[in-house]
Amino acid sequence: MPAPRTGPPRTGPRTGSRTAPALIPRPTQLTMTAGEFVLDGRTGIRAGRGAEPAAALLRTHLAPATGLPLPLAPDGRVVLALDPQLTGLGAEGYGLTVGTDAVLLRAGRPAGLLHGIQTLRQLLPPAALSGTPAPGAHWSLPCVQITDVPRFPWRGAMLDVARHFLPVAFLRRFVDLLALHKLNVLHLHLTDDQGWRMPVAAYPRLTEVGGLPHGGAYTRAELAALVAHAADRGVTVVPEIEMPGHVRAALAAYPHLGNRPSRRLDVWRQWGVCENVLGVHDEVLDFCRTVLDDVLDVFPSRHVHIGGEECPTTEWHASPAARLRAEQEGIGGPEALHGWFMGRIGAHLHERGRQPLGWTETGVDLPSSFTAMMWRDEAHALAAARRGQHVIMAPYRSTYLDYPQSADAGEPPGQPGAVVDLRAVYATEPAPAHWEAEAADRVLGTQAQLWTEYVTTAEHAEYLAFPRLCALADTAWSGGGDWTGFSARLHHHRARLGALGVPSRPPTTTPSERKSR
Ligand code: ACM
Repeated sequence: MPAPRTGPPRTGPRTGSRTAPALIPRPTQLTMTAGEFVLDGRTGIRAGRGAEPAAALLRTHLAPATGLPLPLAPDGRVVLALDPQLTGLGAEGYGLTVGTDAVLLRAGRPAGLLHGIQTLRQLLPPAALSGTPAPGAHWSLPCVQITDVPRFPWRGAMLDVARHFLPVAFLRRFVDLLALHKLNVLHLHLTDDQGWRMPVAAYPRLTEVGGLPHGGAYTRAELAALVAHAADRGVTVVPEIEMPGHVRAALAAYPHLGNRPSRRLDVWRQWGVCENVLGVHDEVLDFCRTVLDDVLDVFPSRHVHIGGEECPTTEWHASPAARLRAEQEGIGGPEALHGWFMGRIGAHLHERGRQPLGWTETGVDLPSSFTAMMWRDEAHALAAARRGQHVIMAPYRSTYLDYPQSADAGEPPGQPGAVVDLRAVYATEPAPAHWEAEAADRVLGTQAQLWTEYVTTAEHAEYLAFPRLCALADTAWSGGGDWTGFSARLHHHRARLGALGVPSRPPTTTPSERKSR
């Protein structure tokens, strides 16, 4: 097993006289050897201890198009081996040898095997990814030797299901699309001013009222099944419950959680930053803890996102109760209530063994025990990293997929003010070279954001997500820095996206609502 490297790989587009397979993300090391391996009706899978889920995943993915049974067999020629001694491959790396007689996929940890399965899918003809049966096709893989280790452990995509509800069937499909690209985090933005999508037993009105205007809510069972579906593919679902701002849907359901309990608010039908925020009385903290305890029951992820961004303090300044709270806590004025609030709820998550995660807008606005998701400016991420925080890079100028992907007049309405094209996403630098090593080491990775003010259909969401998520995946897993090579690989990869039915053209119907960032 060649030693894995985490630096930029040296794989060129050609090896010898044959074109290297166009894998996305680019593997760390790839060597082509002569010949091909053919999967047919007699091919079996030999799965060592702990490798059975990877075998099941391969079978699940290949069955619709190939119809191949791929049974478990002691003499199977596709060998899947989990070997804890392979520590050099880290938590997610794998080694793959495709020879003419056998395929050997090895990893030290289960996630590595799952990622290797995705490589096998990409090595097959694109039709293997389709849902349409193609009986009798020649299912061959080129012979290769691959050693593949991700550069960053956090390779994510955020989906905003609050602004517009997206059906759970789409979420499952989206997880499959993430996994194909070795993206390993689905960050679900479950609540906002315009909607509340997760049921909470003690507060049924959250979804009864907050689920109304823009489409619906999930059941706990649906979310739990989504978490399991994602885990089977090496993807962690990270929930986000927004607080103390972006809560108008919750305030519409439970006015007593606000700063003027007698006021009746509706679920917001506008876009932008809403002035209505949670109050800071004990009942509100209890509400947040109760909500999060339900969330923790459904989502086992280590990180739990509690939002924190775009929280105007106008209402706290105007509220005698909030001013008194700030005074009693000895924290200065009402503007300090944001950090105080995040700290209190973060402590609750710590007590439950979870790691709080929030959006940072300055780099110093979250309690220092939080993981910081930076969305505005690289300098904020550096400031947070210098405070010792882990950071995730989500800069809006290169990772916000609600911006149009080109200036073309045919693009559907999107976030105004910028274009985030494929090249910009590819150029996202999770750990900028000019940072000192200590700060760079605190970067967990990067993720793309799909806000859905303009997105009402799954088709539109997919159109915005791809191929830009391919670029993010290449940067997050392989380290980027090879635009020409990426473009060439993407050219071939588009056939895979096509086989999967990912739309390459703008959707025909789109909403016309606009907001400004
Ligand atoms: C954000 O764009 N509201 C993080």
